[in-house]
Amino acid sequence: MLNNSEVSSRQHDDQASKLNDLMNTALGCSQCNLRSSCSQVVFGEGNPRARLMLVGEAPGGDEDRLGRPFVGRAGQLLDRILKAVNIEREESYITNVVKCRPSANRLPFQSEVDSCRPYLVKQIEYINPGIVVCLGALATRTLIDRKASITRIRGQWYKKDNRRVIATFHPAALLRDPGKKMPVWEDFKQVRDYYNNDRGG
Ligand code: URA
Ligand code: URA
Repeated sequence: MLNNSEVSSRQHDDQASKLNDLMNTALGCSQCNLRSSCSQVVFGEGNPRARLMLVGEAPGGDEDRLGRPFVGRAGQLLDRILKAVNIEREESYITNVVKCRPSANRLPFQSEVDSCRPYLVKQIEYINPGIVVCLGALATRTLIDRKASITRIRGQWYKKDNRRVIATFHPAALLRDPGKKMPVWEDFKQVRDYYNNDRGG
């Protein structure tokens, strides 16, 4: 017989190993044409048991080069935002809707989003976060509502499969338009408050 903590630790191992298998599948994926023009698949990174998951759009040039999500200018801004609300990047899990960089940073086509979406859905299932933050319009339309306008629905909590999901502007949008700073800050304060409750702190 396993005691509770052994059962719990095996479930966690199982979660992490499923996530690892999924990553290996994604690394070999050629469901859409993006893989032939990018240099590597950027699957996502962070805590496989994260309570908070952040979902962006697609890798940019820096991410494509380094194989990690949100490490360029937008990523550095995201790091500052997380720091401001006292959340360690490493305790969260960060990924994108599309795992391969679209050339010249164009928006992914819907067909590319459709091909890649199952990876994101499985990542959410295996990691099982209590909170998902959609960074920008693509994540918002992919995870909350296909027809959603981010300007209209940002900052509101949605419930999906027993998780709290919230949309805010993409850090890259914030770099272009400082007017988005206040709303993003308001949204992340809500995330912080819910996250602190969720982790019982
Ligand atoms: N923009 C995104 O949407 N994702 C990244 O990983 C980097 C920039
Ligand atoms: N922290 C800030 O100081 N500004 C923002 O826009 C977000 C987080």
